[in-house]
Amino acid sequence: MTGGSASDSIRHAITEHGPITFAEFMEVALYGPGGYYTSGSPISADGDYFTSPSAHPLFGALIAVQLHEMWQLLGSPEPFTVIEEGAGHGGLAADITEYVAVIDKQFATALRYVALDIAPPAQQHYPVSLITESPTGITGCLLSNELLDAMPVHRFEVSNGELHEIFISHDGEKLVEILQPPSTPIIEERLRPYLAYLPDGYRGEMNAGLDTWASRQAGTLDRGWALTIDYGFERPVLYRSDRTSGSLRTYYQHTLGQDPLKHTGDQDITAHVDFTAVEEAMDIAGFRICGFTTQAEFLVQLGIESALDQLRAAPSPRPAKRANELGARSLVDPEGMGGFRVAAYSRNVPESRLTGFGQHTQTAARQFSQPPLLSPRRHIALRGSQLSGSAHFEVQTLDELSSDRP
Ligand SMILES: C[S@@+](CC[C@H](N)C(=O)[O-])C[C@H]1O[C@@H](n2cnc3c(N)ncnc32)[C@H](O)[C@@H]1O
Repeated sequence: MTGGSASDSIRHAITEHGPITFAEFMEVALYGPGGYYTSGSPISADGDYFTSPSAHPLFGALIAVQLHEMWQLLGSPEPFTVIEEGAGHGGLAADITEYVAVIDKQFATALRYVALDIAPPAQQHYPVSLITESPTGITGCLLSNELLDAMPVHRFEVSNGELHEIFISHDGEKLVEILQPPSTPIIEERLRPYLAYLPDGYRGEMNAGLDTWASRQAGTLDRGWALTIDYGFERPVLYRSDRTSGSLRTYYQHTLGQDPLKHTGDQDITAHVDFTAVEEAMDIAGFRICGFTTQAEFLVQLGIESALDQLRAAPSPRPAKRANELGARSLVDPEGMGGFRVAAYSRNVPESRLTGFGQHTQTAARQFSQPPLLSPRRHIALRGSQLSGSAHFEVQTLDELSSDRP
């Protein structure tokens, strides 16, 4: 096992306190000293996975179109603050702030963009600050992409008709799983309607930190929206009886795996988001859901088709053109990132009809004459038919790609 200090911290915690919950394990493995996010640089051509902002700048450009409409709906306030939580390298922040100037100079002047992360990487495309305390009382939008899937989850197993929580212990040689009664009543509360249908051996995950996250969102946002994008489902689908092994996945050196106890501190651990739980938490915190759709549909509503047409027709050299088309198409691939969900929640906003959710108000789909293009350092170039971020994939940097033969 590598990644010494995360493993050491976990062993130490188990020796001191006994078995720990999977959420406690995941917290240290990802965000403790020597943890995956604390010490690594996972989203890059030589990292473990890619995300929509690293696949193509159109993702940020189309979110900028949606933010512009939100600004107009609020009467063009100045400042209009966007707080992006879990901003990683700041690639999305860079793409959005660049494209905002193309859309509307007045909006660009009004926009105050704050990128935050619990573990800001050393290499950044836009200044990303360590999240300590978010500003309060803002007017604007709280934005996140693939934040919630990276939060620690509890794991459960149905065994002999009873609900147990999976804890992590140590057998003297290696980390092992043991079953104990649930550490929090939330697990049973959320599962109650489904428990009778779940077969023996059924495993799943649950993020018990959503209420805390949502109430923090409410403390930050006075007026506006929270927009969150991630992979996941509504609860009846997430806990369907045939999804017997849950959604927990690991990413290690471009390879998808399912053993979270291996490579501690060196591999990513992630689980699908329960969007019903997000909605419930946001509701309690004083937000109202005002949009829920797939990423593909969201981007189509905002105008990605017109950008794809322009990319296809572009006279640029072949490898770069192909890379742009592939990157842009990956954003709407129904088997990949296009199948992610986009959810919007409003707070203290009288009318929240947003173009991304097919509720046109002021902004209809954007017509792109010059879509933004991949940039060498900020984006990665997908290759071949690998559109999905959830599988083993190959990427090149644009520099490598420009040395390809057409
Ligand atoms: C899967 S990465 C996504 C990064 C980026 N949003 C993107 O789409 O490329 C998840 C990011 O969320 C950050 N993160 C996880 N929990 C967080 C929290 N509670 N507050 C702020 N950032 C968090 C991680 O450090 C990591 O940078």
